Amino acid sequence: MKLEEIYKSKIVTPEQAAEKIKSGNRIVVGHACGEPTEVIAAMVANCEVYKDVEFVHMVAMSKSEYAKPGMEKYFRHNSLFVGASTRDAVNSGRADFTPCYFSEVPALFKEDLPVDVALIQVSKPDEHGFCSFGVSNDYTKPAAKYAKLVIAEVNNRMPRTMGDSFIHVSEIDYIVESNHQIIELKPPKIGDVEKAIGKHCASLIEDGSTLQLGIGAIPDAVLLFLKDKKDLGIHSEMISDGVVELVEAGVITNKAKTIHPGKIVVTFLMGTQRLYDFVNDNPMVEMYSVDYVNDPSVIMKNSKMISINSCVQVDLMGQVASETVGLKQISGVGGQVDFVRGSNMCINGKSIMAMSSTAAHGKISKIVSLLDEGSVVTTGRNDVNYVVTEYGIAKLKGKNLKDRARALIGISHPDFKDGLVLKFEKRFNCLF
Ligand code: COA
Repeated sequence: MKLEEIYKSKIVTPEQAAEKIKSGNRIVVGHACGEPTEVIAAMVANCEVYKDVEFVHMVAMSKSEYAKPGMEKYFRHNSLFVGASTRDAVNSGRADFTPCYFSEVPALFKEDLPVDVALIQVSKPDEHGFCSFGVSNDYTKPAAKYAKLVIAEVNNRMPRTMGDSFIHVSEIDYIVESNHQIIELKPPKIGDVEKAIGKHCASLIEDGSTLQLGIGAIPDAVLLFLKDKKDLGIHSEMISDGVVELVEAGVITNKAKTIHPGKIVVTFLMGTQRLYDFVNDNPMVEMYSVDYVNDPSVIMKNSKMISINSCVQVDLMGQVASETVGLKQISGVGGQVDFVRGSNMCINGKSIMAMSSTAAHGKISKIVSLLDEGSVVTTGRNDVNYVVTEYGIAKLKGKNLKDRARALIGISHPDFKDGLVLKFEKRFNCLF
C-alpha cells in the first residue's frame, strides 16, 4: 500500500477511537501543551461504558474532566506531576500520585507501568510518512513506543520539530485528524520581586554558559537580565517564549556548548504560537525524549551548565521542598533533581534554586527553620548549591550547618528575620 493509502486507512472519528479503549486499560496521555483533547472529550461524553480506565500523565493543560468529582466510577487518574486541573483530585483522594523523576518516566512505561494505550498528538506526516511529536517528545514518544495501541490526533497546526522527534505512520494504529490551536501557555506576569530574583540569578551566569530554565515568572525574569551576555546555550527540559527573544537578539547562539554545539536541546515546549512558529522546521532546535535530555550523565557533559529551578520551602539546613506544602501535593519533582545533579556534576556548573522569600501575599516565609510537617524533601541538602531570593544569593556548598543557616537567614524577608534568628540561636545554642 502507498503511504497515503496507509494513512487514510487509519482515519477514524474521535468517537470511533474512543471505542477502541476498553475498561481496565492504562492510557498514557501526551504531555503538557501536546495533550490530545478530542478522543478524551469523546470518552468523557460516553463515560458510562468505561470502568477502571487509568489516565496517566504529568502536566495537564486542559481541564482533566476525567478527574472531576463523579468520574471516579469510570476513570482513575494516576498523576506523575500535579497541576492546576488535577491538584484537587489528588489531594481529595479521587486520584493517585506516583513519585518519579522525569528522566525515569520512560523506564516506568517500559517496565513498572506497562502502557495499553498511548493517546498522543502529532504533526501531519511528511512525504516519507513521519509525523513529528511537535511540542512534546518527553515521555510521549517512549509511551508510543511501548504501548500496545497507539491513537494519534494528527493536528495540522502541530509544529514539526527536529531531533529524534518522529513517529512513522505505520507505527500508529488509529488516526483522528484535527486542526485546533495547540494549547498555549501565556507569558506570566513579572513583578518587582521576580525581577530582583532574575537579576541575582543573571549575576551567576557567565558568557558561554548553557542554561536549564523551569516554567514560570522567575525563569522568564532571569531571561530579561541576560541581554548583555554572550554565546549562551540551552539544554533544558522545556523552553518558553522568552528564549525566542534571546535567540533573535543574538544572545543565545549555542556556540560554546560542549555537546550539541549550535543546537537548543529540549524535551518539551510550553509557550504561545510565537514559540511554536519559531521551532517549526527549525534545525536549531532539537527535541529528544526525556530519558536522554534529563539524564544527569548527559547534562553533565555540558560545561558551565546552570540549572534554575523553583521551590516552596527551604529549611535552615538547605533542604528544598518543591512538591508539597505539608501533606498537600502541589506539583511533582519533574526534572528538578535531574538538572540539579547534572549541573552540579559538570565542569564549572551551578545549580540555582530561586524563589520569592514569602508566599501567601507575604504572610508566610518560604525560608523556615523546619519544613512543614509532612513536607517532602525534593532536593536534598547535599545537592543544593545556590539559593536565591529577591534579597540576594546564599551559596550553601562547602558551608557548615551554622553558616548555611546564616546565609539563608541573610536572604529571608525582613519580616521573618528576627524569628529565624531566634530559632537559629536555640537550635545551635550560639549567637547568630
Ligand atoms: N506555604 C504555603 N503555600 C505555599 C508556599 C508555602 N511556603 N509556597 C507556595 N505556596 C502556594 C502558593 O501560594 C500557590 O498557591 P495558589 O496556587 O493557591 O496560589 C502554590 O503553592 C504554588 O506556588 P507558586 O509559588 O505560585 O508556584 P510557582 O508557579 O512559582 O511554582 C513550584 C513553584 C515549586 C511549584 C514549581 O517550580 C515546581 O513545581 N517545581 C518542581 C518541579 C521542577 O522544578 N521542575 C523542573 C523545571 S520545569
